[in-house]
Amino acid sequence: METVRLPRVMQETALMGKRAGKAIGFVPTMGALHEGHLSLVKAARSENDIVVASIFVNPAQFAAGEDFDRYPRTVSDDLEKLSSSGLADFVFLPEAQNIYPPGFATRVDVAGLSERMCGAFRPGHFQGVAAIVLKLLNIVQPARAYFGQKDYQQSVIIKRLVKDLNLPVEVVVCPTMREPDGLAMSSRNAYLSPRQRKAAPALYRALQAAASAMAEGRRDAGGLRALMRQALRDEPLFSAVDYISIFDAETLEELENADRNVVLLAGAARIGATRLIDNLLVNNLK
Ligand code: PAJ
Repeated sequence: METVRLPRVMQETALMGKRAGKAIGFVPTMGALHEGHLSLVKAARSENDIVVASIFVNPAQFAAGEDFDRYPRTVSDDLEKLSSSGLADFVFLPEAQNIYPPGFATRVDVAGLSERMCGAFRPGHFQGVAAIVLKLLNIVQPARAYFGQKDYQQSVIIKRLVKDLNLPVEVVVCPTMREPDGLAMSSRNAYLSPRQRKAAPALYRALQAAASAMAEGRRDAGGLRALMRQALRDEPLFSAVDYISIFDAETLEELENADRNVVLLAGAARIGATRLIDNLLVNNLK
């Protein structure tokens, strides 16, 4: 496994591979790698000739007052995990000054989709995500790029970006990896105290409660929303709920009636200073 730091070198290496007829599979991350990240790398390995993972804590996607400064940075552990997995050929590890050199001025805005759900609570976040992902796709030149359903809104925005800008890449969305108690794996879980960690799966349980009600035929979004809110309120360590609701899985619009074929149940809530997100797709046809 080779570590590449300069965007120019990464792009030249990728173009060389492409010219030799190789398909590149790409997994962008912000590091603090866990089994969720590794599941994406595994998927990339199984479908491509060359696998590239990137690690870059992207300052542009953190709003003022968010956790950029304390975001977990565990690069040597991450490199060890990737290398011992035997799954990745290259790790792209750029420095911020080479990604955003002086004079950087371009904005990338996937309008509408970026303002809904988490976008309403994290101004500028998805513009920061769209810009870095577009840059990384141009640098790494993948045939396929892998994202987790854990960040469902992000995956919808990237798909839109790829379609709107005719980017020659297939976006692959992989299932959410969970801890045995249901908590979605996340680099931010490292912030939780033991007590908070014990309370955290309540978010997933709230979504599951609505999914079970839907399996029994409930479709009124108001009632399902109330049920999920109550389930979260029953766990007093959840200090604030940004949202927990029912959305159209494609437009991300909040629904009044959950009678579509596929709906998205999704929530974002805080335990102390830690913001957790989770979601479930419910297929009403099953
Ligand atoms: P990060 O949070 O490090 O996540 C990198 C990728 O791993 C994302 O596609 C995310 O959805 C996926 N992932 C995270 N937790 C997962 C889980 N439990 N199961 C499956 N996949 C999981 O998302 C980002 O970084 C950044 O926004 C990025 C796309 C790298 C742009 O900076």
